[in-house]
Amino acid sequence: MNIALIGLGSMGYNLAKNMVSKNYQVNAFEKNMLIVENIKNDNIQNLYLLNSIQDLVDKTPSPRIIMLSLPADKIDKCINDLIDHLNPTDIIADLGNSLYLKSMEREKLLSRFNISFLGIGVSGGPRGAKNGPAIMAGGCEHAWANVKHIFEDIAAKYDDQKACCFFGSPGSGHFIKLVHNGIEYALMEGLAEISNILMQAYNMNNDEKANAFKTILQTNSSSFLLRITSEIINAKNNNNQYFVDEVDNLIEQNGTGIWTINAALELGVSIPSIYEAVSTRYLSKNFYSNSKEINEEKNQYDEGFDHREIPLEQIIFFNFACSIYQGLNLINESNNWDFFNYKMEDVFKAWSAGCILQGNYLDLISKKFKSSKILNFEFFFNLIKENCSNKLQSIRKFNSKAIELGIPCPVLSSNLAYYDLIFSKHEIGETIQLQRSFFGLHPLKDKNNTNKINPYWTKL
Ligand code: 6PG
Repeated sequence: MNIALIGLGSMGYNLAKNMVSKNYQVNAFEKNMLIVENIKNDNIQNLYLLNSIQDLVDKTPSPRIIMLSLPADKIDKCINDLIDHLNPTDIIADLGNSLYLKSMEREKLLSRFNISFLGIGVSGGPRGAKNGPAIMAGGCEHAWANVKHIFEDIAAKYDDQKACCFFGSPGSGHFIKLVHNGIEYALMEGLAEISNILMQAYNMNNDEKANAFKTILQTNSSSFLLRITSEIINAKNNNNQYFVDEVDNLIEQNGTGIWTINAALELGVSIPSIYEAVSTRYLSKNFYSNSKEINEEKNQYDEGFDHREIPLEQIIFFNFACSIYQGLNLINESNNWDFFNYKMEDVFKAWSAGCILQGNYLDLISKKFKSSKILNFEFFFNLIKENCSNKLQSIRKFNSKAIELGIPCPVLSSNLAYYDLIFSKHEIGETIQLQRSFFGLHPLKDKNNTNKINPYWTKL
């Protein structure tokens, strides 16, 4: 298989570097001449820059794989430009953050021209792309068989196993990448909320927070995201000013979190923490904090509290476990669609290294799944029980403190509410069913779901 690559932005260029370091020859085309000039200066061996799509295709004989590393809104045009130049044995692989539904459409379109399509989610950012990303593929099976070795060669490794998986149907790889990103939003927001509570409720400064996070980097709660958070929290610019004090608080997003929510709504799966994380991104920058009255309303931090007593390790584990369980459950439920058929162990394998979600907490969940083989509420309950002591008292206390002081913690609250909704006795459904029946005269059943109940208000 000869390799052609379109798009040498930060992801494409680093994937190219990764491939040439594994002795592949890569022919590439990049439209942006500024990028091309910079790359020429790097003089990378076995990376050949071509001048047009026509030139790229001419110099890369069939059988060939054309990899696209482009923004999601550029993929369709590029595929249209390519179609007339390709042969039936050729493969187009979209390596961007595309919506799984688009990958399904693209596969259909290309199959009319006998061109194979692969939709491949790549995680790990430009650094991962260069040194070993996590790879989540879906699409034409025989095409994958022909190029699998390339992706396995460049993927990250975990215990001699490659963080690279083929999940089957077109769209299946991009769906796993989409859920990965939704979870990523919730974990990032969770850590940011914890950091904010440590500062506002427990009066910890940036160095103390960074150290507190660093002390748990060797534990089961550790992760890539925790490590980078512990590093950025007290990082400073050349003027000795913290970057967290300098940076704008508008949170940007590329849309993958929104796609995750849409998929969950369509499947009827509850992923409240992921929703809260996306919602906070929308709300960011719209905070109204200038009024003296608002600031006076908030209680002051508790100076007497010893922050060494905060069970950070458990707080982080609990919140990560709740958010990731929601995402894994979404994947599980997506098997109800006849076009997906995921095996959870493959998801764990793809996320074992290279990706943003990687970490000890995930290794532990994956190991637990290996023995239980089933992802259900019992699995979730035992996971929390084995890793968070004392009936979550300290986790509740941490959240309560924030709420008491008016410190926003939408994802932390949502994780706890999700857990409590599932495992506590509550009388919410009963009340809502009666409300519905009162004004809508909707039929009611008893708790055994056998006999009908007809309260007096159901008679007009
Ligand atoms: C990854 C990341 C990657 C990227 C996204 C983040 O897995 O490597 O998820 O795909 O960083 O662009 O998304 P936002 O821009 O929406 O935060």
